[in-house]
Order: sequence, then C-alpha cells, then structure tokens
Amino acid sequence: MGKFTAAIDQGTTSTRFFIFDDKGEPVAKHQQEFNQIYPHAGWIEHDPAVLVESARDCMRVATEQFLALGHKPEDIAAIGITNQRETSVVWDARTGKALHNAIVWCDSRTTHIVRDLKGKKGADTILQRTGLPLSTYPSAVKIKWILEHCKPAREVYEAGHLAFGTVDSWLLHNLAVGPDGEKLHVTDVTNASRTQLLNLDSLDSEDSFKFDDELVRFFELEKLRLPRVAPSSHADAYGVVADGPLKGVRVTGCLGDQSAALVGQKAFEKGMAKNTYGTGCFMLYNTGNTPVISKNGLLTTVAFQLQGSKPVYALEGSIAVAGSAVKFLRDNLGIIQEAHEVGPLAAKVSDSGGVVFVTAFAGLFAPYWIDDAQGTIFGITNYTTREHICRATVEATCFQTKAIIDAMEKDSGIEIKNLAVDGGMSNSDECMQVSIPSQNLNSPARTLTPFFYVATVASRYNSSHSGLSQGIKVDRPAMRETTALGAAIAAGFGVGLWHDFSDLKGVNARNHKAFTARTTQEQRARQFKRWGKAVEMSKGWLS
Ligand code: G3P
Repeated sequence: MGKFTAAIDQGTTSTRFFIFDDKGEPVAKHQQEFNQIYPHAGWIEHDPAVLVESARDCMRVATEQFLALGHKPEDIAAIGITNQRETSVVWDARTGKALHNAIVWCDSRTTHIVRDLKGKKGADTILQRTGLPLSTYPSAVKIKWILEHCKPAREVYEAGHLAFGTVDSWLLHNLAVGPDGEKLHVTDVTNASRTQLLNLDSLDSEDSFKFDDELVRFFELEKLRLPRVAPSSHADAYGVVADGPLKGVRVTGCLGDQSAALVGQKAFEKGMAKNTYGTGCFMLYNTGNTPVISKNGLLTTVAFQLQGSKPVYALEGSIAVAGSAVKFLRDNLGIIQEAHEVGPLAAKVSDSGGVVFVTAFAGLFAPYWIDDAQGTIFGITNYTTREHICRATVEATCFQTKAIIDAMEKDSGIEIKNLAVDGGMSNSDECMQVSIPSQNLNSPARTLTPFFYVATVASRYNSSHSGLSQGIKVDRPAMRETTALGAAIAAGFGVGLWHDFSDLKGVNARNHKAFTARTTQEQRARQFKRWGKAVEMSKGWLS
C-alpha cells in the first residue's frame, strides 16, 4: 500500500487538493478560488458545476506536481473529502443535473421560513433532537426555500426524483463511483448532522445513523431523496475516483471541514478544542461519546466517527463571519489591498479607538443566534483611522470567540485542555495576538483569572505565565492545513494505514508558536461590555 494520503478540501471561497506524506506534510497541493454569487443582500450561492470542476482541476494540477517528484498514482493509499458544511445542492436523480445553485451555509434568505417553523408544533423539540437551533444555518430550511421558489426543482420533487446533498455528497456523486461503476448518493455522519434532518439519538445497535422520518416530516421534505449516511472513515462507502489521473484510487474518508480540522489537530480526546479561522470561525469542543445539548447557544454536532467505532460528539461555537470580514475590508471598502495587511495594521494601534464592528453580515450566529442583526460599525469619530477599523474587525472575531468559550464552560462543566488554532487568519501573528480570547472567568468548571486575549500560542502553555488561565494549552502547529490533513487522516483510517490514534504520534508534530496577552484585565472587561452593547444595538434592522 502507498504511504501517501490525499484530500479534496472544498471550502466556502476556494477548493484545494493536497497530497500528504506519512508525517502529514504536504508534498503537492493546488488551490483554486471560485466565483461567489450574491443575487441579493444576504444571499450567497455557488454554481454546483464549478465546485466539481474546481475539485477536478485541483486534483489534476497537484497530481502533476506529485508525479513530477517521481511518485506514482498508486503511491496514494486513499483520498478523503472535506467540505463547507450545510451548503445545499439539489439535483435530478435521473440525470445528475443540479436544479438550482447551491445555497451557501451563511445565506440568510430563509429568515421568514425559520420564523414560521418556530411557531409550528414540535419546534420546541428540534434543538434537543438535532443539536441545532432553528435558524437559517442548517440545510433543511435551504431545501425548503428551493422547493418554494424553484419550479423545476419542485416538479422533480413531486415526481420523487429530487436528490439532495451537502457538498461532500455532490462531489462524491460526480467524482467517484461504486464497485460496479454506479453513481453514489452518500454522505458522512458529520455532514448529515448539519442538515437538521438527523436525530442525534438515532444511533442503532450497530452504531449507524440514518436520517429521521419525523424530522423530515417536520420540514415537509418527505419526497426528497436523501443520501445514505456513513461513518467519516469507511473502507468502501465512498467508492473510488471515477476518472482523471487518480482514477481507481480509493476514497475512504469524508467529513465536514470543521470536523476535519478537529481530526487534523488530533483533538481526539474529550476536553480538547480547536478554533479554525476560515471564512467564518468555528470552535469545536470534543465531548467524547456523549452529545451535550447546549443551554447557552452552542450547537451539538457529530465530530467524527471511524468505521466500527462509536461516534464522537462536539459542542460547537459557529461564528459566521471572520475571514470574510477581512475580505469585506479589501473588496468592498478597499481599505486594504491584500488580506494579510489586516494584522499588521490592527497591531499598529493599541486599541480600536472606541470602534466596535459587529460583523453580522448574515445575522449573528453562536452564541447569540440573532437572525435579524446586521453588520454595524459603532463609535466612528474624526479620530478613527483604517488601523482602528482593522483592529475592530479582528476584535469582532475575538469577542464572539470569548462569548463562545464562556458558553462552552457553562454547558459542559468540562475543562478545556487544549485549544488548537488553524485556518487563514491564524497565519497572522498579529491577528492571533489580538484575536484569541482566554478562558472563561467564573465558570462552574473552575475559577480562573479573567483573561481575554491570549494570543495564539504555544506548544505548551506555561501555567506560571501571568494572566493565562490554568490548564489550557493553546496550540498553533507549524503545518496549519489541518482541515485537509483531517480528511486525509480519516481516509488513512478507512484504508487501514492507521489503526489507532497512537499511530499518529509523528503526524503534524512539528513546532508550535506561543503568544501572550498585551492588554490589561480592565481594558478587556471594558471592551467586552461595549461589544455586548453593540450587539444589542445591531438587532432588528431588517424588521
Ligand atoms: O459551517 C460552515 C463551515 O463549514 C464553513 O467553513 O472554512 O469554509 O469557513 P469555511
């Protein structure tokens, strides 16, 4: 068996393909950005065909690099797929043709559907059953919108031929085939748990999940063809690559990108957490084999499931806007030319000069869940400079992360042992210096010194360091392509390259970096209070 593993990483703004060696180091990679479609304010779509083509292109170019190094396709033991979650595609099962653009996870067009559903009988049980509050975020409401507004999709639905999939499912349908060359309609359990059609309690005696009929009825999607749900790593559920230079290579891993990042960070144990700064920012907190339903605005999700094992769950704090706010500064306001400028500019000033930027471009997600909040910049004066705006932009992610950590402590009562960071914004030392909150203050789990901005971090947290909370390790690995690596790791398990987490000791083990706080406790408390006030004031603009 080859010693390399590979991964397609289909994200919100770009698609990538990586080939990793047995230490988890990328030996070949290619990335392609693709067009974002904004038909109206708050709407965001992707062309499903473009998602497939970008994956094909990335696989081809990275494979060419790999072959040029003297390797052969068969040196790749297996491929994993990881993807932007919730983003929904529908297609005609008879032709494979998509019938609407993919509605992207952060699209807020479904506000009215959510409002109606909240008044429906059974609505009060949805959070408990699915781990997700009724909101514009999960897939189910997006599918409902398509059925209400896209006539061709409705007709195919009525005839019983409308297939639905999250992006993993759509890519597998187009890029892979089963043992007899047949088309696949499959998803993994982490992606399934983001649709709001999976009941977290529906695990059967063989530790398998399937979509829940009652939830399907609640959303009135009875005629929809849903994919089969498989574990995140599986020897044969995901088939083999259908064509191209990697034709025949097995696909044995599949999981949503935030789950993949958790796996890529090797946060396998209960109590470990990671924060990924991508288009949005997502903190996942491993709660082991038991789902913890949040009372404080967090989501409960399946973190990952290896074939033959029980699922591992996570509490999740989802922030809809992080890197996309930096993109907004670049593309909409033009106050930076390149995304990487934001960190150094933010670090030029010691605070935001009173500016607070509530980056609620599509409402606010965790832990607030305010559908009708809109992006608002408060506190602008003649003194305000672009440095202050950049700082306020980075701080917005920090404040939301702080609110999420507070909620996690309250919900779980479990001490966070490890906060690993990755994703685009984590590449900037300056962003990390101002953007990572410390641990909760007076949580039931433990009483800690208030500490707000730890910056990123360190291989090993030094508990004697003044202001840092006890017992937490915040970790930024040198190799930060953890999302793709997580999918490759899942694939490696599926193909039998690894059998136990301890086999991964040498994977992604290179050096880490530490940052420490530079603001006082009083400053941090004042800033967070101001943030809370700004959140309140950003509500209700759409009404
Ligand atoms: O839930 C949405 C998430 O999966 C998107 O991740 O990295 O594309 O921001 P990202």
